[in-house]
Amino acid sequence: MKDLIIALDFPNGKKTMEFLDKFTNEKPFVKIGMELFYAEGTPFLKKIKEYGHKIFLDLKLHDIPNTVKSAMRVLADLEIDMVNVHSAGGVMMMKAALEGLTSSQSTRPLLIAVTQLTSTSQEMLRNELLIQQPINDTIVHYAKNVKEAGLDGVVCSPLETRIIKQACGGDFLIITPGIRLKSSAKDDQVRITTPTQAGKNGSDFIVIGRPITQAENPAETYRKCLQEFLFSSKIQE
Ligand code: C5P
Repeated sequence: MKDLIIALDFPNGKKTMEFLDKFTNEKPFVKIGMELFYAEGTPFLKKIKEYGHKIFLDLKLHDIPNTVKSAMRVLADLEIDMVNVHSAGGVMMMKAALEGLTSSQSTRPLLIAVTQLTSTSQEMLRNELLIQQPINDTIVHYAKNVKEAGLDGVVCSPLETRIIKQACGGDFLIITPGIRLKSSAKDDQVRITTPTQAGKNGSDFIVIGRPITQAENPAETYRKCLQEFLFSSKIQE
């Protein structure tokens, strides 16, 4: 199940298709976030599926349980492969999301949750949200809530993979952005690691955007990152 997901952080469908056309030999798993989804809507998801790509729809739903359940019912019809919610919405909301997503044949896309955004700091928790606990404790606690609700796993920084696997078990999926090749720029990411280290730490999926989308040869960079990740994952097993 281990795989590399390319973050398609493009403003529109045209730019996205120009990028995907550079892949002639493979059909990478892709992540579509709010920008592209709001620009192009559901027809674009169908087009990407028809091209043969798996889709992680990164919309981070967070609302009252009934609204999230209804929204997930709509998303379930789009034949996407992975979707997410904010675990801060609570266990009831996550259970409702799962219910909405599950078809009458009991099939559904993978459902994962964000614990704390990597842009959230200890100071912000304390001063703005009045949460006094250490941020890592809140991340592990949120991950346990995600597991209790029956979801498949969490998105988190690659540096938190081990503590979450320890708390929630080896089968609990960990999806990690913040991945950089040794040679690539950090951009605005702070807590980063390489594909090799992410594999060794036990990530199940790595999400990579700019190091691949801005590369001179995206397909070659994609293959290099994927090989590094899969190879180090095997060593870890
Ligand atoms: O270009 P880059 O590799 O930094 O892209 C990472 C992707 O993962 C972006 O789409 C970003 O929004 C997403 N992401 C993240 N950190 C999180 C959650 C999602 O970087 N905690």
